[in-house]
Amino acid sequence: MASGCMADAREEAVGTFVTMKTFLKAAPLALALGSALGVDGAAAAAAAAEKTTPLPRLETRDGRHSLIVDGEPFVMLAGQVNNSSNYAEPLKTAWPVLDAMHANTVEVPIAWEQVEPAEGQYNFAFLQELLDQARAHDKRVVLLWFGTWKNTSPAYTPAWVKLDNGRFPRMKDSQGKDHVVLSAHSANTMAADRRAFVKVMEYLRDHDRQNTVIMVQPENETGSYTVPRDFSAEGNRLFAQAIPASLAGRLGKSGTWEQVFGKQAPRAFNTWYVASYVNAVAEAGKAVKPLPMYVNASLAGPSNVPDPTGVASGGPQWDVLDIWKAAAPSIDFAAPDIYDRVSANIVQYLDKYARPDNALMVPEIGNAKEFARFFWPTIGRGGIGFSPFGTDDTGYYNYPLGAKAFDKETLAAFALPYAAVGSIMRDWARIAATRPTWGAAKPDDGTDQATTLGAWKITASWGQWQFGMKDWTWIKAEPAAWSNEPVGGLAVAQLSDTEYLVMGDHVRVTFSAANGRSDGTIVSVEEGTFKDGKWAMTRVWNGDQTDYGFNLIDRPQVLKVTTGFHSQRQH
Ligand code: DGJ
Repeated sequence: MASGCMADAREEAVGTFVTMKTFLKAAPLALALGSALGVDGAAAAAAAAEKTTPLPRLETRDGRHSLIVDGEPFVMLAGQVNNSSNYAEPLKTAWPVLDAMHANTVEVPIAWEQVEPAEGQYNFAFLQELLDQARAHDKRVVLLWFGTWKNTSPAYTPAWVKLDNGRFPRMKDSQGKDHVVLSAHSANTMAADRRAFVKVMEYLRDHDRQNTVIMVQPENETGSYTVPRDFSAEGNRLFAQAIPASLAGRLGKSGTWEQVFGKQAPRAFNTWYVASYVNAVAEAGKAVKPLPMYVNASLAGPSNVPDPTGVASGGPQWDVLDIWKAAAPSIDFAAPDIYDRVSANIVQYLDKYARPDNALMVPEIGNAKEFARFFWPTIGRGGIGFSPFGTDDTGYYNYPLGAKAFDKETLAAFALPYAAVGSIMRDWARIAATRPTWGAAKPDDGTDQATTLGAWKITASWGQWQFGMKDWTWIKAEPAAWSNEPVGGLAVAQLSDTEYLVMGDHVRVTFSAANGRSDGTIVSVEEGTFKDGKWAMTRVWNGDQTDYGFNLIDRPQVLKVTTGFHSQRQH
């Protein structure tokens, strides 16, 4: 009877708003606990019941994806802490950094070795510490499960896994020698990883009713470098078989791995088995608490067909997403870890992961200043989150992937777009769920970027002062201080046939009527914000502020542009 009650309260807690009904159901439980806990305990338990929030989830409508947090669309303005910041003291250094960035979310690892240091003995001290610190600093959390794979390696597995290759076998290379990476074909390893992961999810179910943790990443950068598949006896046996029916159905092809995938067969094969393994872990975790779950990819280049021995074979690179989709239905989406500094490559990655069947989220991007501008094209493509890597103050910098130092100036480059979108975060998320959006970053060659939304062409140009034109000869001007800097980006949402929301930094935005029409006019440009979901104007931009485009430079400003066409009717 009592356990039935607990189960009821838990179901309510995980899935729904706290309505009066829920509260009344939870209250007796709190009061019952109260007799054991004393009056303060009862009050605390009742307060905990009150804090219950709806379970975060992903919603997809007409190919657009939204992350729903506390019942409403949400954009993750995130930062990821360094790998070894999964302890109480280093984690404390992250909060001032995240606050200065205007971040609302932090991505933090939790390691299998710290959760289950001895087999069957679990320690959630850090997880509770993380929940406490995040709540105290008003941040949501994305939890990164560093288990069987961390950048492919088993470095974060407990010693009892690392040291027992008999029970937890490594992959074999083509010569039959052990590779460092654990085999995806081992039922033992999968069961052990899954059991620990399930314990983590149980802890969240029981200690995070308010859903401080909004999303979970099972494993980190899966796959294996240099050895494209496991050449063990079991690996060879499976490799000789026909590809699984569900994959064959999805691809419309059947046969052995080699018949279907040719030179990419070892990688396709490993992808299927790695994805199936991660799916089993995620599925079991979701059965306990069904939070959104995603996987991250170590990228192999945006346009080449990767050399199976030169990439993390098995990981969710863009060209094997269909294999991941077929093998891992419990994974909500795959996401790119971006450290490539070539602007055209970054844009390609965004395009490849923004699919009607795959929500775009950038769970890692270098924390060097030049990466910040790609926040804009990410949200412009409907991205649900963005997260530079290395956002704590432990003194560790992953240059040349990211910044040489995450100093004030570097941090400010991320803080500016986060402040702008953060000021209307829920409104942007709500609008992006249903209306057309676009975004761009200054490309490496500094060329203008443009799109057509409705009846208007919108052009972004870079590196100009707010006043005047670059090609004026009647007055001399120095180039803008940021003209040669890799900064600048914008995001636009079309609110209605005539209205557009515009945000950005270090950008000049111009509107011109599309389709060669010459009767278009800007009716008004309002700077403002949203109050209770409704636009609230603070001032009208006119005169110098609009004569040379709308110049959004170094302030978090939000503009609503209203357009129109002159009537030709004679009165
Ligand atoms: C990608 C990984 O996912 C991160 O954990 C980290 O190792 C970075 N690479 C490099 O700093």
